[in-house]
Amino acid sequence: MINFKYNKTENIEEIDFNLLVNQESSINEIMMSKLKNCICSSGFLILKNTPISLNTINDLFVQYKKFFSKPYMEKNKVNMSLTNSNRGWGAPKSEQVNSNYNPDFKEIYDSGPNIDQKHEFSELPYYAKNIWPDDMSELKNLADNFYIQCNNIGLKILNKIAKVLNLKENFFSDKFDLPMALLRCNYYPERPAWAKKKDFGIAPHTDYGCLTLLFTEGDPGLEIRKFNQNWLKVKANKGDIIVNFGDMLQLWSNNQVKATQHRVIGTNKTRFSIPFFFNPRHDTVIKSYKNKDDLLAGDYLSYKYDTTYRHKF
Ligand SMILES: [Fe+2]
Repeated sequence: MINFKYNKTENIEEIDFNLLVNQESSINEIMMSKLKNCICSSGFLILKNTPISLNTINDLFVQYKKFFSKPYMEKNKVNMSLTNSNRGWGAPKSEQVNSNYNPDFKEIYDSGPNIDQKHEFSELPYYAKNIWPDDMSELKNLADNFYIQCNNIGLKILNKIAKVLNLKENFFSDKFDLPMALLRCNYYPERPAWAKKKDFGIAPHTDYGCLTLLFTEGDPGLEIRKFNQNWLKVKANKGDIIVNFGDMLQLWSNNQVKATQHRVIGTNKTRFSIPFFFNPRHDTVIKSYKNKDDLLAGDYLSYKYDTTYRHKF
């Protein structure tokens, strides 16, 4: 393992996904050094030229928007508060990502992996059955396919991160064979007239998992915390993937990978974004102690879920 010193780079690096994963490319090394820089400096990067097409992204946004435009009574039929996990619709204020601020005014829709209901993990909340509105099979199909594509991209990025960390390139592969991943759509309505200083679309927070892939429609809204504590607006196009790293990977990597704070204040326009949160299988040891039980990825995630999803308080 190598020890990074955080430098003060504040721009968000753009990385060509094809050139990053293609080791034959003559500029693969440049992409790898860019990745190394992102990991320890801004904690964010923008992936260009990825395998997910604009049409695929557009189609999924259309379906999620259709869901969020439904009346409350319809959305409430798939309210995640009716489940023991985080599947389905999260109403405004259903999540409080930072206890120093008020619950977020965004709405969300969450889905996870589809594992065999006879599998020994199927009883665990991280592998809970997805719930979908009865009349939205198109949303279900597109989201399930999107989940698989994100899973593949996430693993390829992790393989490169392993290389940067001087681990075996496939270090993460077996740990992500049954990932506790989550696909979400965020719906940020216009910033409400009642909103005050402590109210956000999503309050300042670090993500709590390993890797986040974020799809937007190219509209502004996301801001990240810079070294000087000011906030930097993220500019990305539709089709780009904004990538950032979470607390679990920071802990797992002994602080070599940086989890950076970010937020969405909300504007006078509605905004949608689709994050994919990529986390290892629940029994992965992310930290070992001499005189204590090992810390498992699932236990870490449960602690985070239980303290942010308000229906689990
Ligand atoms: Fe986040």
